[in-house]
Amino acid sequence: MQKLKKEICENLKRKLDGLNDMHGLTVSEIEEFIETPPDPAMGDFAFPCFRLSRVLRKAPAQIAKELEEGLSVRGISKVESSGPYLNFFVDSSYLPEIVDSIVSLGEKYGSADIGHGGNVVLDYSSPNVAKPFHIGHLGTTVIGHSLKKIHSFVGYNCIGINHLGDWGTQFGKLIVACRLWGSEKEIEEGGIDKLVELYVRFHKEAESDPSLEDAARAEFAKLEQGDPDNTAMWRWFIKISIEEYKKTYRMLGIEFDSYNGESFYTDKMPAVVDELREKGLLKKDDGASIVDLSEYSLPPCLILKKDGSSLYPTRDIAAALYRNRTYAFEKCIYVTSAQQILHFQQWFKVVELMGYDFAKKLVHVPYGTVSINGTKLATRTGNVVLLRDLFSLAVEKVKSIMEAKNPDLPDRDEVAEKIGVSAIVFHYLMNTRSHDINFVLDDALDFDGNSGPYAQYTYARACSIIEKAGESAPVGGGTVTSPLESDLIKVLAEFPEKVLVALREYEPSVIVRYILDVCYSFNRMYHECRILNAENSDVRDFRVKLTRAVRTVLGNAFDLVCISKTEKI
Ligand code: ARG
Repeated sequence: MQKLKKEICENLKRKLDGLNDMHGLTVSEIEEFIETPPDPAMGDFAFPCFRLSRVLRKAPAQIAKELEEGLSVRGISKVESSGPYLNFFVDSSYLPEIVDSIVSLGEKYGSADIGHGGNVVLDYSSPNVAKPFHIGHLGTTVIGHSLKKIHSFVGYNCIGINHLGDWGTQFGKLIVACRLWGSEKEIEEGGIDKLVELYVRFHKEAESDPSLEDAARAEFAKLEQGDPDNTAMWRWFIKISIEEYKKTYRMLGIEFDSYNGESFYTDKMPAVVDELREKGLLKKDDGASIVDLSEYSLPPCLILKKDGSSLYPTRDIAAALYRNRTYAFEKCIYVTSAQQILHFQQWFKVVELMGYDFAKKLVHVPYGTVSINGTKLATRTGNVVLLRDLFSLAVEKVKSIMEAKNPDLPDRDEVAEKIGVSAIVFHYLMNTRSHDINFVLDDALDFDGNSGPYAQYTYARACSIIEKAGESAPVGGGTVTSPLESDLIKVLAEFPEKVLVALREYEPSVIVRYILDVCYSFNRMYHECRILNAENSDVRDFRVKLTRAVRTVLGNAFDLVCISKTEKI
């Protein structure tokens, strides 16, 4: 369809150049004008003539009429003016070409080379060590990873960084709690759960014994000075935590290129503070050091506390300078909850004031909050729902649904894990990221609803048809014999454009909703048109080939949004 659109625009350009006193729109400018009519009965592409009206000094409807005359485009069966619009109808004889190109491009279909191998750094997931990895981290983890996949798909070289919260006073607390109430053996066995338990206990006990807080501060100060015992403990906590996170990442098919967290930048901080001072940006404020941003209607950015210790923004500035030096990035993307919008505005501004041009390549991608209801989830730590528990619960529920549906399926446990985890991801990513969402597990797992399982079922259906068809249908030729086939092909043709929209808007939901469009359209065709037992072998071959195109598009789209592919359910 992209090709067809280009062809239309090239023809329109020739036509427009023929009309007098045109100021010469370029083909790509014309392309930006092209719309998709709201109702397919009005055509597949529309060119609105409003904006030409001033230049040409004619009514839009008349321009549409003049353009219509004698305009013919290969692959377009009809060009028709309708009021101020010029509408184009795709010739159904062109559609098999689209199917062929999807099938032959395979895994490359929908990709592009707009990144030219440039570096894009993505900072996402980034949990705080020894604090629970909870449902609030679902957004940064799956949005971040999808954005990484989407950027790679369009030709960027992506570097995924897990900017662990691995530095701060919580480590002093944990060290105290461990020495008082923990044992090495218990912690080795209990892992992160034990650490969180100790951390929670610390807070409880500190309520009645404030001296604990002083002890924690003292231990953290020792850690900052490089005390060997405390450093060893700190390293151990991080190791335990990363091992645990990796279990969740493995379920999601996520790997990071770097686990350089906040602690990695401790030795890079003094240089940043010096630079800020040299550039005249630092100000003393009640003993603390700040950068005044009042001129930009922002609250001051805190750089150093009264006691001289550095803060979250300072570490982010140091990290950005380091990443720019190390990766010379074209974009550095941060995915966090919307609660951190101000934090990013502030320190992005500071980087700009330091005179760094790369400040405009820093992108914050915020997302809304998640709440859960409709399901009781056992929580071990107060009110937070752990991500791992949410996944396990989903997997258990899927297992019982599948036991009823398909008791003989081999590898049922493995398939159930893929479906359960993907159901959560799908349900979450379906929403526009800035919206706050209320997570209803039963909706996520509704096999007949707009859900991950529904999409995976559709994918498995396509796989099974292809398998049963045996010999792959020859690429080339075929004819469209049903309007449902045309509709489906047109939906499949939208994929490359959807990828670009998702990229431009940092919005994986565009891909997830598109997956649903493909599924509806394919299932409608599947129910109305016979595929394997079609009326003759030409029709059958074409429909099998179309099914292969569906599998390609769904598979490519699933990969972009962390949904696993299941050939059998
Ligand atoms: N650890 C932080 C949190 O859990 C998120 C870090 C985001 N990345 C960054 N470079 N600030 O809230």
